[in-house]
Amino acid sequence: MSYDIRLMGDPVLRQRAAEVIDIDARIVRIVEDMIPTMYEAEGIGLAAPQVGIQKRLFVYDIGEGAQTLVNPEIVESDGEWAFDEGCLSVPGLYFEIVRPQQIHVVGRDLDGNEVSFEADEVLSRLIQHELDHLDGILLIDRLSKKERKVALKQWRELRESVTPVHPPAGGLSLR
Ligand code: NI
Repeated sequence: MSYDIRLMGDPVLRQRAAEVIDIDARIVRIVEDMIPTMYEAEGIGLAAPQVGIQKRLFVYDIGEGAQTLVNPEIVESDGEWAFDEGCLSVPGLYFEIVRPQQIHVVGRDLDGNEVSFEADEVLSRLIQHELDHLDGILLIDRLSKKERKVALKQWRELRESVTPVHPPAGGLSLR
C-alpha cells in the first residue's frame, strides 16, 4: 500500500509530531508503506506527518537505499549553505534556503538501535528539512516575509491550475 501525500494547507502538516515510544509492528508497517510512497513521488525524503501520521520519524534515500530515522534530533550544527529545496507537500515550487551545512544527528533506526552520525551537504539538508516536518514547519517558513508572500501567491496559482475548486464557468473564486 502507499499513502496519499498531504499538501500545504492540510493542518496535519502544521502540528508537532509525537515521539515514538515503542518501535512496534505498527510503526514498522507505517515505514514499509512510506518507502514506496516516497519512491512513487520521486522524493528523496518523506516525513510521517506528510502522510497524515503524527509520529517523529522519516524515511529517506540519497542513493544508498532506504533509511529510517526515528525520534531524530540535531545535537550540533555548523557552517552555512544556500541550496535549492523542494518538498513533496509543496510540489512544483523550489526555494533557495540557507541552513547549516553540517549537522550531528542522533536518533534510532527501525530496529530500535541508537544512531549517531555526522551529515554534510545533501544529507544534512534533507535531515533538517524532514525534521522541520516533524515540528510542523514547512520550507516557506524559512523564507523572508517578502519571499513568503510571493511563494504563497505562486502556490495558490499553481493549485488552482491543477485542481479547480469551482466549475470553470460562473463560479466565485477564492481569495
Ligand atoms: Ni518536505
